[in-house]
Amino acid sequence: MKILSTEDQSYTIFSDQFSTSYHSLHGAVQESMHVYIQAGMYGYQKFFGLPKTLRIFEMGFGTGLNACLSLMESDTLGCKIMYHTIEKYPLSSEFAEAYTRMYFGQPYEEKLQILHGLSWDFPHALTSNFEITKVACDFFDFKVEQKFDVLYFDAFGPSTQPDLWGEKAVSKMYDLLADQGILTTFCAQGQFKRLLKAQGFVVHSLPGPKGKREITQAVKS
Ligand SMILES: C[S@@+](CC[C@H](N)C(=O)[O-])C[C@H]1O[C@@H](n2cnc3c(N)ncnc32)[C@H](O)[C@@H]1O
Repeated sequence: MKILSTEDQSYTIFSDQFSTSYHSLHGAVQESMHVYIQAGMYGYQKFFGLPKTLRIFEMGFGTGLNACLSLMESDTLGCKIMYHTIEKYPLSSEFAEAYTRMYFGQPYEEKLQILHGLSWDFPHALTSNFEITKVACDFFDFKVEQKFDVLYFDAFGPSTQPDLWGEKAVSKMYDLLADQGILTTFCAQGQFKRLLKAQGFVVHSLPGPKGKREITQAVKS
């Protein structure tokens, strides 16, 4: 594992286990904002308006960057966020601390520190607008009664983790979402989009962030 600097002055991690980085090297924050906050969180608002509470599910907590940006955005969004995130291979506390320290003096530092320090499997109300539950488990084992409005699907790509982009995974994504829900992901693979359509999603290919032609937004309605 090593920490890498990306083009927008934010940081990502290179995983030795998966031989790939957690984010785009063109900009970790830029990618997360574009794919998950804009197309996911604000995408939901565009399609369905703002609910009293927006329920977000993230596949892959990783560095905590998507959770951190969602927390930061919760002040502007105008509704409460209930955020669930799962992680099968949590970073060691030493490594999470080293990643967090890269943002020394920036607003991300304190928030990432708080997010990484939270105990697993319990809800934590971080502000009056933001509650988070981190669950240490495999995507296929994650079970919960409630449904979600927004799904950030942020696994490693299909060439690295083919199972997480196949039929069984897509069916699970569909089940996790409420009747009106939105899935977003950086992945624009044709086979994945065909599976989403076959499952019943309306699929939109949106322009990607710097360095990526397209991303995928899938609407369940
Ligand atoms: C592309 S990284 C993104 C992480 C995160 N969203 C971030 O901003 O750092 C993919 C993440 O999914 C996690 N992961 C991989 N396979 C998983 C699985 N089967 N179940 C749960 N998490 C998984 C990895 O450990 C990694 O943290």
